[in-house]
Amino acid sequence: MSSLRGSCVGVCRSSLAMFPLILLALSILTTAASSHPHPLDPLSPAEFIAVRAAVLASPLISDRPLTFHYVGLDEPDKTDVLSYAEARSSSSRAALPRHAFVITRAGGQSHELRVDITNATAPTVLSHAVHHGAGFPMHTIEEQFEAEALLFKHVSFVESVRRRGLDMDDVICPVFSIGWFGDAGPSESEEKGQQRLVKLVCFMAGPTPNLYARPIEGLTVVVDLDRMAIVKYRDRVVYPVPKAEGTDYRAGKVESPYNGPTPAPGVVLQPEGRGFHIDGHLVRWANWEFHAGFDMRAGTVISLASIHDVEAGARRRVLYRGFVSEVFVPYMDPAEEWYDRTFLDTGEFGLGITAFPLQHGADCPANAAYLNGYYADQDGKPVENKDTICIFERYAGDIAWRHTESAFPDRLITEARPDVSLVVRMAVSCGNYDYILDWEFKTSGTIKFVVSMTGILEMKGTDYTHADQIKQDAHGTLLSENTIGVYHDHYITYYLDLDVDGTNNSFVKNSITTKRNTAGTPRKSYWTVRRDVAETEADAQVDVNVAAADLLIVNPNKKTRMGNEVGYRVIPGGATAASVLDDDDFPQRRASYSKKQLRVTPYKRDEKWAPGLYADRSSGNDGLAMWSGRDRGIRNEDIVLWYTVGVHHIPYQDDFPVMPTMSGGFELRPANFFERNPVLKMRPPRLEYDLPTSVNCSCAGNSS
Ligand SMILES: *[C@@H]1O[C@H](CO)[C@@H](O)[C@H](O)[C@H]1NC(C)=O
Ligand SMILES: *[C@@H]1O[C@H](CO)[C@@H](O)[C@H](O)[C@H]1NC(C)=O
Ligand SMILES: *[C@@H]1O[C@H](CO)[C@@H](O)[C@H](O)[C@H]1NC(C)=O
Repeated sequence: MSSLRGSCVGVCRSSLAMFPLILLALSILTTAASSHPHPLDPLSPAEFIAVRAAVLASPLISDRPLTFHYVGLDEPDKTDVLSYAEARSSSSRAALPRHAFVITRAGGQSHELRVDITNATAPTVLSHAVHHGAGFPMHTIEEQFEAEALLFKHVSFVESVRRRGLDMDDVICPVFSIGWFGDAGPSESEEKGQQRLVKLVCFMAGPTPNLYARPIEGLTVVVDLDRMAIVKYRDRVVYPVPKAEGTDYRAGKVESPYNGPTPAPGVVLQPEGRGFHIDGHLVRWANWEFHAGFDMRAGTVISLASIHDVEAGARRRVLYRGFVSEVFVPYMDPAEEWYDRTFLDTGEFGLGITAFPLQHGADCPANAAYLNGYYADQDGKPVENKDTICIFERYAGDIAWRHTESAFPDRLITEARPDVSLVVRMAVSCGNYDYILDWEFKTSGTIKFVVSMTGILEMKGTDYTHADQIKQDAHGTLLSENTIGVYHDHYITYYLDLDVDGTNNSFVKNSITTKRNTAGTPRKSYWTVRRDVAETEADAQVDVNVAAADLLIVNPNKKTRMGNEVGYRVIPGGATAASVLDDDDFPQRRASYSKKQLRVTPYKRDEKWAPGLYADRSSGNDGLAMWSGRDRGIRNEDIVLWYTVGVHHIPYQDDFPVMPTMSGGFELRPANFFERNPVLKMRPPRLEYDLPTSVNCSCAGNSS
């Protein structure tokens, strides 16, 4: 399917801009209609329908109702995909079989199916298994709304709302996952955490859409999703619901701006059109080529990222496949209504499902192109997530390289190259929080991973109206009258199957080591580098805050002309927190990988999701920490880098009523990958463009 739409195409009335943009648009339309899908293309709507038909027709699952919780591409074997990608001419590329992986619930069990959809008119179920271990698949959207509706018919709840003097019409009670706490389940009837239970957590909207600022505290409502019944109801304590005043975030509802001159509107204009090309899901730009896919659990999936190296006269591989494997968000309030808020957003709610359409010109600049994503609803039918990914060239006015040479007595030489990058963006709104997840490709060969956290804090109702009243640990900051912003963490774990210049790689630590000077010169000390190559997984579990080292993925089989092993460096960014919870605490057991920011494992097809395939109510018996605990060999093997961006979040009043964006991330930066700095190949910026005085570019809401 061709899901690309240009944001600005056809409405830019600048005569200068019009021609290249329209020509580009035409070329996209013609090339996207290629004969067969790329082997890593996400499932098309027709393929979702084929999967659904095969599953519903299969005699292997007789129980009804049957609900779909995950439908996604079951990737072909890596060797087959690599052969496909390496056959540069389309004539030598034979289509690979198309398979889907499916998780359904029926008869109180999780069923895993593999479905052959190579011929979408005759799909066949290839395999079927019942999951017997702990944990459940993602919640569907439909069952979340169905669960919420139960509450409004519940007599005790009607009484609770009346007791608080609230208007039922303003009450909203979304589904919250509840983690797993061994035998200490939330419901007495529960057997060892093995029921598909969730809680409903209630808020007031009313005159404000900012429901998270108006929690209704004291309620514990547990729903069994399989039985679709409330299995526990408790109303324990009544706090005032915080006021609505001052919490609205809608433009027009907010007091007018600043005292100083108002920041002027701006728009990114590319007078010569876009620099990148999209063919289906394949993106080409400068020296980069990659495949941008979509998955209902992970959201954006970047595959087959490679760099065309002019010196080497070859396309060189960097990354086979990468995506956000999990987002773990534990809150730090042990109260009855709060202790179990220990979310695994990817595995419980799905980043792809909660990656809502991006707003043209606001979420992404005017020069962006957009891709759609598709996921299966509870009935297995495809749902379009329109404009869920945007791709754009970022011109932020920064410098990739510059130098002024003043050593010559008679002249100055100044050279500069603009820092232009290609950004692939998705914005996830998982309940109150929003995550903007950027992949930023640079001509230097760097890939920058940026996680920007924004949205709205999760707030707790309280009696307190002033900080002086607080005598015990409030587990958060008093943000406003009756409102506490509760302490919490964010751990965003990336799965990165790096293939630096080939499949087999090693993990290397270049440690900074202090030496005493013995050379007889006046210096007492200096530092030098100790190089350690990791043999097994245990050597590659790194606390990046402790390690004074450069951390590299190298290809020991490839050297530069100078004889250095080619590689990429992992550079931690601003957010490097690791979990400080006790190891025996239940959420920590479920996300035990969160104690180290970096791990390396050997590539295994089924090791994708950091807390295991079944994250909801998981018990920590599967997942990254368990796999990497096997201590397998990782030297000169096909290896996967797992990197966790971490933040301990102490809220402050400035985060109220909504949170300014806070960013963290990391970089993968070439380290002896190139013979020389490729940035010099960038054209210097044209210092002046002869733009028409009335460039008129309107991008909002265009979906031509
Ligand atoms: C796909 O299946 C249909 C229905 O069985 C069949 O008629 C058709 O020939 C098949 N197409 C291919 C390419 O095998
Ligand atoms: C890559 O690793 C595999 C698996 O250990 C091994 O069989 C193969 O020989 C290695 N290839 C190279 C080029 O070292
Ligand atoms: C720009 O476009 C708007 C909306 O189409 C139009 O009203 C306006 O006159 C245009 N301005 C110029 C300078 O062309």
